[in-house]
Amino acid sequence: TQDATPETADVLVVGSGIAGCAAALAAAREGAEVLLLTKAEKPDGASTDWAQGGISTTRGDPESLKRDILEASDGTADPDAIDVLVEHADDAVEDVLLETLGIEFDETSEGEFDYTREAAHSNHRILHVDAATGTHILRPFLNYVDDHDRIEVRQDTAALDLITHEGRVHGVLTDEEPDGHPVFAGTTVLATGGIGALYTRSTNPDDATGDGIAMAALAGAEVEDMEYVQFHPTAYDCEAQRASRRSGDAAERDDPFLLSEALRGEGAVLRNGHGERFMDDYHPDAELAPRDIVARAVETEREETGEVVLDVSTLEGEFAEEYPAIAEKCRDRGIEGDEIPVAPCEHFLCGGIAVDENGRTSLDRLYAVGECVRTGVHGANRLASTSLLEGLVWGLRAGEDAADSGAEPEVVEAPDLRNSDPDLPERFAAEKSVRLKRTMDEYLGLERDPEEIARASAVLRRLKGEVDAYIRTRTARDLYELRNACVVTLLIARAAGENDESVGCHYVVSDGDEATAEPESPADD
Ligand code: SIN
Repeated sequence: TQDATPETADVLVVGSGIAGCAAALAAAREGAEVLLLTKAEKPDGASTDWAQGGISTTRGDPESLKRDILEASDGTADPDAIDVLVEHADDAVEDVLLETLGIEFDETSEGEFDYTREAAHSNHRILHVDAATGTHILRPFLNYVDDHDRIEVRQDTAALDLITHEGRVHGVLTDEEPDGHPVFAGTTVLATGGIGALYTRSTNPDDATGDGIAMAALAGAEVEDMEYVQFHPTAYDCEAQRASRRSGDAAERDDPFLLSEALRGEGAVLRNGHGERFMDDYHPDAELAPRDIVARAVETEREETGEVVLDVSTLEGEFAEEYPAIAEKCRDRGIEGDEIPVAPCEHFLCGGIAVDENGRTSLDRLYAVGECVRTGVHGANRLASTSLLEGLVWGLRAGEDAADSGAEPEVVEAPDLRNSDPDLPERFAAEKSVRLKRTMDEYLGLERDPEEIARASAVLRRLKGEVDAYIRTRTARDLYELRNACVVTLLIARAAGENDESVGCHYVVSDGDEATAEPESPADD
């Protein structure tokens, strides 16, 4: 049912990470009335809040940052997109983070910025606050946009589908009413984040179900580079912790968390189950090699020697003093000493909704920014500390362009969702989601085998069919999240199946390789 007075906004932003906040801010600065919807109930529902290492600047040498981004991508990133990012990086950081929000990045005792370094960066150029940079950026940013006269922030509100008419996007249908609540907008900006919830282990919040990518793809938008799912090499490995001599009685929790690349940038080293450093055998830059290379090396060493640890005793500074947020997480898991067991874990999607230099998608009046997009900056492998920057730069550009487009909200016919059978059989979404994650873990992880990709596609297609049968009569948010997850996993499987070149995060193994052995637990039931 449609409201008597339909709800409208000049610019509608969906998502509350750094990209969504930047888009809202830029649109409001242009005089637009902005509605920002987010399914998150708290700031930590957005991946930005979980970001550790920091945000890259050029530190006066843009050409070297451009080179590093291109090299980390194995030459696959788009040089024009890199130019847009790097040429606007310092101004965006100065304008929004320093002047508007007044973020106090860590400084040296001389009062200079204490730039850190991460893998594949050729110098120290990353601004950070401890290794909890995302939290320190996002919370003031959300407060700022929430206090803005022309921005309304509405939490705990999910977008279920885009409203489209004659090839244009006119807003979204939210889950505010049992049958869906339409919000009509002149322009719509998707900033819905990543896809961590498609895998069992991820550094993202549980909400990262790829909603924007799925909604845009279902509406006909182009998506690109979906096979490039980045795995971070060093997430806490709870299984190794449990099995190891280090397990103490003090563990309060067991879930994975990120051990920032900044730790390796500042001297921490990786050791295998024999206590040996091994990264020199894999790349001349050792622990500071591009992320995809370190992730595969860690996995190989785990398989061959039982475990891999991040040794923080070699850090230049004192671990607990320099990285209090990470040290606290270690304490919560009962980790004593300097060796933290690690394993690769899903971290970031380099591809997504295809957008231009202003965040415009291939659909009229639809923009997209942040992790849900493919700008071309990352190619097949993203350089550390460029994701917050990309979200900020593209968020500002898209918000401004969306507001300046002058598109007025038009009230058109919204999708007709009937919540005729509101009771979802208990556990349906949860059970299907476990099956989906197992399929992704086993067949679309760090290494991919063409036959396994085909098998995964078959499983995922069946799963989507089962979900679609339910979705016709229900508007439950978790069902839509599951539908979105199915759509995105199929896009990943299709892109992976169509690309037989091993590059960056997409590593194709041949028939004879060990990694192609039959998985122990078939994922298709
Ligand atoms: C990290 O702190 O290691 C993550 C940084 C990033 O993914 O850009």
